[in-house]
Amino acid sequence: MAGYLPPELIDQIRDSNDIVDLISEYVPLKKRGKNFVGLCPFHSEKDPSFNVSPDKQTFYCFGCGEGGNVFSFLMKHEKLSFPEAVKLLAKRANIPLPKESFDKKREEQLDKLYYANQVANQYFLKNLYREVPGAKARRYLKRRGFDAETLKLFSIGYAPPEWEGLINHARMKGIEPKILSQAGLTVPRTEASGFYDRFRDRITFPIFNLSGKIVGFGGRVLNDKDEPKYLNSPETPIYQKGKLLYGLNLSKDEVRKKRSAILVEGYIDLISLYQAGIRNVVASSGTAFTQSQARLLSRYAEKIFLFFDADSAGQSATFRSVDLLFSEGLEVLVVSLEQGGDPDSFVRESGPEAVRERIKNAKPYIDFRYESLEQDFGQLSITEQEMVLSDLAETAGKITEEIRKSLFIKKIAQRFKVDEGIIFKLVSKTSKKISGGVKTIPPPITSSGEEKVERGILRILMEDGRLVKKIAGGLSTEDFSTAEHREIFQLILAGGRVSPANLLNRTDNEKTKELIVQIANIDLGSAELFAQLKDHLAALHRLKKNRRMKELKEEIQRSLQIGDRETADRLTKEFEKLKKA
Ligand code: UTP
Ligand code: MN
Repeated sequence: MAGYLPPELIDQIRDSNDIVDLISEYVPLKKRGKNFVGLCPFHSEKDPSFNVSPDKQTFYCFGCGEGGNVFSFLMKHEKLSFPEAVKLLAKRANIPLPKESFDKKREEQLDKLYYANQVANQYFLKNLYREVPGAKARRYLKRRGFDAETLKLFSIGYAPPEWEGLINHARMKGIEPKILSQAGLTVPRTEASGFYDRFRDRITFPIFNLSGKIVGFGGRVLNDKDEPKYLNSPETPIYQKGKLLYGLNLSKDEVRKKRSAILVEGYIDLISLYQAGIRNVVASSGTAFTQSQARLLSRYAEKIFLFFDADSAGQSATFRSVDLLFSEGLEVLVVSLEQGGDPDSFVRESGPEAVRERIKNAKPYIDFRYESLEQDFGQLSITEQEMVLSDLAETAGKITEEIRKSLFIKKIAQRFKVDEGIIFKLVSKTSKKISGGVKTIPPPITSSGEEKVERGILRILMEDGRLVKKIAGGLSTEDFSTAEHREIFQLILAGGRVSPANLLNRTDNEKTKELIVQIANIDLGSAELFAQLKDHLAALHRLKKNRRMKELKEEIQRSLQIGDRETADRLTKEFEKLKKA
């Protein structure tokens, strides 16, 4: 959507949302001098190093290096994409966004799919409450312990044992067969033309997206001997399995309130817990837990309780999901169950209080790992010990927040009674191996004298872009020593507003963005700007000259050593010339 929004509109949206107002909605800020400060929401700290500048319309944390404008704040804080952040801020400032006809067409297409699912759900509900064929389905659900209110809330239905029941029903509602098939509700026949109903003789669990629209179904057999136990809607344009969590549409407020979510594996587990009054639950349903799901959770929760079946499938599901959760900044605790149990049977047999008790006693992930070892850690062979530790180190490597990461490492060391240094080593070893995909906090920028001066120059130019013209010829792109500095200089040269917020919008390079924010936070001297700029330029040229002379000297010596008089002479001339200049 925002891909084709005109830049002026994006500027307008940004300018209509004051950064201090916006951030104050998330972080308590206090005025200090020209700026506002608060406790950084991106890392844990006791003393506020999170700065918001009303002048520059940027934020910057001196503790962790996070920084940016209103868009990047929302993107980071609420885990939004750029278009989502733009949309939200447009709404906040009451700025209407244009809808392209292409967008409208697509939306109409998607609406048809939502509608097909809604009609299918009505059909399944109708069948559940009909004497024939619904009675046996209702009996089954009763046996599973679901009350009428729960059935209604989750819109649980029943697909009758017919091949074209839904197809006929949908036809009456004016839904084309093509749409039903696109919605994944029917399956093409292989022997003949046409389609048949995907869900037959199954309990139906509609899957809702966050706006409460049905995007697909899970269908369970009534007889455990039948296979497969669950059939699920395929992926469709409105149902991307990895991006959705079952139940979150109902539980999100409770998750947000508690800042924690209980993650279960099955539809039934979720529904049972919810019915028992434990409402901060979500399920990954039908697929392995994904990074997107972890990110989605991190928008609502800080802590995730893994409440999985106590079998080995449940254990491996635990191991698969933890790294994803940690990498989204979430804390992971594991709820224990007796062998063979699952959350559904546990809550039905032992009641909600017992569940709450288990959740209260949930083990931090490291403790869980320690205790789930088949043997005492000390009894394991060195190789096995190393494997356990590198596995945990890999998890630690996924933690993006530095302080949290070191605390995690410290805890591994204490729990497993090994030297902290070993874990640190393992972490840096594994994070090197897997670097690339995983985002880590960049190290503070170490800079040569030249880079420092270059940044000073960029800082001044960001204050007043017109100064670029005044020094025409005195500075060119090549004078800058890093690609990011050159890019920022080019952005300034391109003209237009040079406020940091504006510059941030004009680059996609993350490193450049970070630098823009860092540079914007360099304090300006009190002297007149142009004078400062001239001083900086002189300093830059002096530094460059010294560096070049040093390089020349080394090259001359090398040439002499290998007897290359010609090169030595040429370089000596250059050296003399430079010295005089
Ligand atoms: P479970 O087998 O634990 O199912 O699978 P459940 O929800 O607890 O159901 P009951 O208690 O046995 O009746 C967990 C989840 O894995 C997916 C479903 O999302 C299910 O809820 N699943 C399972 C499938 O998609 N297909 C299957 O064949 C089995
Ligand atoms: Mn189950």
